[in-house]
Amino acid sequence: MRRFVMSVCVVGASMLFAGCDENLSTITGPTPNLEPTFASIQRDIFNARDLAGRQACIECHTDAGRNPSGNLVLLEGRSYAQLVGRGSTGKGGATLVIPNDPDSSYIVHKLEGNADIAGQRMPRGSGPFLTVGQMMVIRRWIELGALNN
Ligand code: HEC
Repeated sequence: MRRFVMSVCVVGASMLFAGCDENLSTITGPTPNLEPTFASIQRDIFNARDLAGRQACIECHTDAGRNPSGNLVLLEGRSYAQLVGRGSTGKGGATLVIPNDPDSSYIVHKLEGNADIAGQRMPRGSGPFLTVGQMMVIRRWIELGALNN
């Protein structure tokens, strides 16, 4: 009997952990390596398309040979200064990234498609947009102080 109880526990525990693993890998969905650091957001969100086919931000937010969309350059090495503490060009009074305050950061509004935004939800077009899990990671980076890490 004791042995039976033990094996039920072990099976239960491994099912629990399998369940946890599954949840973890589904959180960041089409960008499995996404972490709440600026380097990771740059690599997996700004620079690259993801597994769902979401456009890379720098396809439009670049000044290489064109005017950057929304007057916003998200190229590596320049994006941090373009975002953190910087006022929006599209919406007066809004700030793109406010450290520790994801709810008030205008980039979050633009990516989630809030009713208050000027212009369109990002990435511009018909999607795919960022998933809830990807937004959780970006929100977490801001919550942790929006560091240049
Ligand atoms: C297909 C082109 C395109 C892509 C891809 C795109 N954007 Fe934009 N973005 C624009 C245009 C055009 C504007 C200005 C008009 C508007 O706000 O709708 C803009 C505006 C913005 C603004 C507002 C800037 C301000 O100062 O008000 C933010 C923030 C932004 N984009 C973030 C992003 C992020 C982050 C991504 C990637 C997830 C992205 N965009 C992908 C075209 C694009």
